[in-house]
Amino acid sequence: MTEAYVTLITNDSYAKGALVLGQSLRNCATTKKLVVLLGYKPEPQLREALQKTFDELIEVSLMDSGDATRLALMARPELGITFTKLQCWTLTHYTKCVFMDADTLVVENIDDLFAREELSAAPDVGWPDMFNTGVFVFKPSMETYGKLMELAKSEGSFDGGDQGLLNSYFSDWSTTDISRHLPFVYNMAANLTYSYLPALLKFGTQVKVVHFLGSSKPWHFSYSSENDNVYGGSSSATDSNMFHTTKPFIRTWWKVFNHSVQPLFTQETVGETTQSTSVPSSGAPISSETGSTGPKGSFGDGVPRPATQDQWERGEVNYTGDDRFQNIQRHLDAMIYKNGNFY
Ligand code: UDP
Ligand code: GLC
Ligand code: MN
Repeated sequence: MTEAYVTLITNDSYAKGALVLGQSLRNCATTKKLVVLLGYKPEPQLREALQKTFDELIEVSLMDSGDATRLALMARPELGITFTKLQCWTLTHYTKCVFMDADTLVVENIDDLFAREELSAAPDVGWPDMFNTGVFVFKPSMETYGKLMELAKSEGSFDGGDQGLLNSYFSDWSTTDISRHLPFVYNMAANLTYSYLPALLKFGTQVKVVHFLGSSKPWHFSYSSENDNVYGGSSSATDSNMFHTTKPFIRTWWKVFNHSVQPLFTQETVGETTQSTSVPSSGAPISSETGSTGPKGSFGDGVPRPATQDQWERGEVNYTGDDRFQNIQRHLDAMIYKNGNFY
């Protein structure tokens, strides 16, 4: 009997999420296999880090609902690609699996989920009679996969992504068998807890899985380990109440990134110079530790630090890239508020 956690990545940004997820599962001492479905070809260094984290990397072909109209209802045009997730049902060399979105983070062992039956999932915060497909227990089966594909062709998904389709397929989830309703702590939507802060205060310590649902992901923010604070993201995200309640979770995500993921990108000696490997930033702003003395190299947040300091001091300033004013200001803010209360 082989059981596994399964996630999906189709680009470098979600790959960072998957690395944090995989490491968080290992930090919580899971005894299950870890599998990542690869919807693209990562660069060698990233692939190596994925291989160190996951037991199996399985290449899958991209599947897109192509349903721009329904995806527009969620304002998430990029989620048509989540149809690729459905290929998790083809992993028939496993008897049971738990699918987890690459934007989830495990903070406590959840191996007890494997005692649940297909399809077990937690309610969706937007519509609690539906389940959220960021975390679900399923049983791989080519028969089920075939039926899901048929449904995809005949009716499509009412939200343009996997969640609409899976809720149509497992449509009795809300009415039969309460044991298939996972407690919310197994898939806690981090960005929506501000709407019920008293519950977060009462139950927050019981949270096992944090889900960074929505378009703002932890890798869009920067983190400073010096003052243990989170910066950046879009201004609408940082100004809102949401940010204040989500921040501690983003911080936790970054701590796992810095402590467990970054060391996977080891120093390599090439000829006489020491080069470092770094997580490809794929253009998205992403930060390791501000002012870090750790491995050299830019993680894309652009705060001048050892790897670029020489260039900077020679007067070679990248005004529109790493050294842009916004990044310098962010660095100064971090220093100014180091021992104070940023808010
Ligand atoms: N995903 C991906 N590439 C994309 C979009 C999504 O690999 O461009 C995968 C990834 O595993 C992600 C999941 O599909 O966690 C669902 O997307 P997301 O988590 O962004 O949806 P949300 O939970 O925010 O609705
Ligand atoms: C959701 C879920 C996500 C799913 C997406 C598309 O909000 O959190 O897992 O992929 O919708 O259906
Ligand atoms: Mn998600």
